[in-house]
Amino acid sequence: MNEDQEFCTLLERIKRERGLDCRQYKVNFLKRRLAVRLRARGVESYREYARLLDDEEYEKLFEALTINLSYFLRDRTTFEALREKVLKPLIQERESRGKRYFIPFSDREYSLQPEIKTLVQFEQHDLLADPPPRHLDLILCRNVLIYFSRQQQERLFAIFHEALNEGRYLVTDKTEILLPFASKLFKPLDWREHIYMKR
Ligand SMILES: C[S@@+](CC[C@H](N)C(=O)[O-])C[C@H]1O[C@@H](n2cnc3c(N)ncnc32)[C@H](O)[C@@H]1O
Repeated sequence: MNEDQEFCTLLERIKRERGLDCRQYKVNFLKRRLAVRLRARGVESYREYARLLDDEEYEKLFEALTINLSYFLRDRTTFEALREKVLKPLIQERESRGKRYFIPFSDREYSLQPEIKTLVQFEQHDLLADPPPRHLDLILCRNVLIYFSRQQQERLFAIFHEALNEGRYLVTDKTEILLPFASKLFKPLDWREHIYMKR
């Protein structure tokens, strides 16, 4: 195998085992980041590196791939689609039942009802250890599942399915592929933006 074939084989394997579609990254970026890991492990080819790819190395690799990429509302188009296709209908549904979530602030601006603000809770949640939440309308879980084994991912998709109310929503990152197993549990609402609905 030449270098390009080895590179493709490695990317195929990452997609199969972790559901990360590296084609969303620029080739040069990927190669630069992989080079860092190859150097750290003292190997010179993608083929040799593939042999070292266990849970621990996957974690290091994904750190190298994602470390500079996290910022608030990363992927503007996803959050725009979320606003139009998920949040607006959800709010309309609630408001049609007489609950008011927003009060006019100025011509074009609204502020959140104070009672709603008191309902906000921030909690640390370990996906692998903490009991799953229930009765959720929306789960945003982006660039996290890639760190876990396929088996763990399957378990978490089943947990997310269980945690969501009927017909409600899951959002992953655009690089993340729903495992075949998970597409039995979720159907796409916006395929391009990776917004899914509970089946
Ligand atoms: C690459 S960052 C992604 C951050 C953000 N979701 C985004 O898309 O920009 C990976 C995140 O996964 C979180 N994480 C790793 N293991 C976790 C676990 N067992 N339970 C919950 N979160 C975890 C880390 O704390 C980190 O914030």
